[in-house]
Amino acid sequence: MWGASVERDNQSAADGSDGAVHRPVLPLEVLRALGGDSPATLRGCIVDGTVGAGGHAALLLAHCPQVTVLGIDQDPQILEHATRVLAPFGRRVRLRHRRLSQLDALLDRESPQRVVGMLFDLGASSLQLDSAVRGFSFQADGPLDMRMDPERERTAADIVNTWDEEDLADLFFYEGGETRSRKIARAIVDSRRRASFQRTAALADLIERTVGGRGGKLHPATKVFQSLRRAVNEEGDELLAGLAAAERWLVDGGRLAVISFHEGEDAEVKRFFVEGAARGAWRVLSKKAIQPSREESHSNRRSRSALLRVGERVRTSGGPA
Ligand SMILES: C[S@@+](CC[C@H](N)C(=O)[O-])C[C@H]1O[C@@H](n2cnc3c(N)ncnc32)[C@H](O)[C@@H]1O
Repeated sequence: MWGASVERDNQSAADGSDGAVHRPVLPLEVLRALGGDSPATLRGCIVDGTVGAGGHAALLLAHCPQVTVLGIDQDPQILEHATRVLAPFGRRVRLRHRRLSQLDALLDRESPQRVVGMLFDLGASSLQLDSAVRGFSFQADGPLDMRMDPERERTAADIVNTWDEEDLADLFFYEGGETRSRKIARAIVDSRRRASFQRTAALADLIERTVGGRGGKLHPATKVFQSLRRAVNEEGDELLAGLAAAERWLVDGGRLAVISFHEGEDAEVKRFFVEGAARGAWRVLSKKAIQPSREESHSNRRSRSALLRVGERVRTSGGPA
């Protein structure tokens, strides 16, 4: 019953008036994680730290009628989209242009009553990935940018054109899992002596020429592009700051749900919950990462690598504040 209505909401929340589409991943699982057994009686504020197109936020607002949502996103263009999608919920929603690393300060300022849930759906939105001018795509040519927050100074082109060969190789290997990282870094450094990289297609072409064609499942530039995006947006540090804010602000019994699309990131979330449980600050609700059903992976390709972990804040007297 519940599943069917969630699927309908999921469809409608996802389609923006500009024709762009972002479908929230693991919708039922996120509702269960944050709404608990009785979403209708849950009362308080849910912080959506990556509100994106507003898909998850709309589902939570629709199924938890006594909940308000404070949504942040580092991308002001995406926030405009969320503003339209979430308009029907009126004053139950507040949206702010912030990064996860600014969440703690924002909550200090806004001082919401009882933060009962937090959601971080990490990485980029389909609305960003599908827009060539944002520079995330190796499939459509655009400026080599990749900043989700235009207030950031450093673009992907800055990294590709100025980092030394060893640092580039380490980035591609450690952040993207690219095993041919040294070969690619050397080719980039050789090529940029002739002309700097300014466009996504030029970089994707060089990688394809360096490591071979598109025989495998992934485009050969996939891992390099992912690692550049992570560096430009400082995704590792942002996550750590968001986790710390969740620990500070969630009430006793409040839930944190984190969706990652990157194994290193998922390992970081797992470590946070396991160490938090050892300190008595968290209860781990997902012993293993929750993954999309076969139907969801089939109908929403981008959900395929999603990994959801859920923890519950524990505040016992004498335990961590
Ligand atoms: C996968 S989308 C979220 C989709 C959203 N849950 C929905 O249902 O529409 C990720 C969003 O998080 C934002 N984002 C990523 N890292 C962020 C950060 N550190 N701080 C704030 N927003 C961030 C991106 O700009 C993007 O809009």
